[in-house]
Amino acid sequence: MKILVCGGAGFIGSAFIRNFLKNNTDSKLTNLDLLVIGSNLENLNDVANNPNYLFIKDDIRNESVIDNLVKESNVVVNFAAESHVDRSIANPKPFLETNVLGTFSILEATRKHDKKFIHVSTDEVYGDALGQSSFTEDSPINPSNPYAATKASADNLVASYHRTYGIDCITTRCTNNFGPYQFPEKLIPKTIIRSIKDLKVPLYGDGKQIRSWIYVYDHISAIEQLISRGKSGQVYNITAYEEITNKTIVEKILGLLDKSSDLIEYVNDRPGHDKRYSINCSKIQNDIGWTSQYNFDDALEQTVNWYLDNKSWWEPLVDEKALHPQPWTLS
Ligand SMILES: NC(=O)c1ccc[n+]([C@@H]2O[C@H](COP(=O)([O-])OP(=O)(O)OC[C@H]3O[C@@H](n4cnc5c(N)ncnc54)[C@H](O)[C@@H]3O)[C@@H](O)[C@H]2O)c1
Repeated sequence: MKILVCGGAGFIGSAFIRNFLKNNTDSKLTNLDLLVIGSNLENLNDVANNPNYLFIKDDIRNESVIDNLVKESNVVVNFAAESHVDRSIANPKPFLETNVLGTFSILEATRKHDKKFIHVSTDEVYGDALGQSSFTEDSPINPSNPYAATKASADNLVASYHRTYGIDCITTRCTNNFGPYQFPEKLIPKTIIRSIKDLKVPLYGDGKQIRSWIYVYDHISAIEQLISRGKSGQVYNITAYEEITNKTIVEKILGLLDKSSDLIEYVNDRPGHDKRYSINCSKIQNDIGWTSQYNFDDALEQTVNWYLDNKSWWEPLVDEKALHPQPWTLS
């Protein structure tokens, strides 16, 4: 198989690439990434010299490059996105450009060359689940912030290309990921790093926002299985059903690092902040038999240990901006 991965230098894409090349020794994988914030080629040190791996620095909006690469591939998996909600509040434009126009560019190439497209989306497109039962793939899309709105727009474009042109595509909507190599500005790594440094750990609002977490290696195993066994034109929710408040996560991390909960500092809530995300993923379980494998507490402990053991990975990435308590206030 020849696979094109876009956005493979980020957190989830790099986990996918490391695993895919280990499991598929007779496949060729090309990774196209623009190397914007959140990316790090060091995530891919393990595969950099693999003869089946090729890295290309470019933009998913570069239609001629995408066209050529899609033509030469059997399947394209797109992880490339502007992915941080707080930055989408400070400056939404790059989110529209990459998340909507970038997806459009890949769709045009997959339509022209009749190739399979795995569109990696998010549970945030469903919006706030407070007081509601878990969303299924048939629930309406109701995004609350510019990041989620651009992902939802891309989801709609993908669905329209399947219906109008019959393209072979799958959309995945996964819950919050955590694990090694996640950029320091996201909740779990930021909490680990600030705690290690004995800095105050910010919690937005009352800290009672509920998120459903999944270990990144569970997410990528679902995507890998969907490539060969997912049904074309379908949306698949992906979750490990671990609903937990942000406050509880932070307290667990402080406990694992033997730090006092006095480090917690409540800061003004993020504008438009959803109170709860919750999805049901019985469809992927029924269609392809995928279920999550990792226990949440064990995976969280492994993640904390990874950040303790890999300071040389995160120290160069940690500046005032990455660890800021309220990043949407920065321009
Ligand atoms: N992190 C999560 O919890 C989560 C949950 C569900 C879905 N997702 C989705 O998974 C995907 C990957 O998320 P992540 O957390 O790994 O994000 P990330 O920010 O770590 O990685 C995104 C990658 O995309 C690249 N990129 C950005 N703009 C680009 C462009 N125009 N052209 C080419 N490359 C570009 C970046 O350089 C980076 O390497 C995103 O689509 C995100 O919406 C993430």
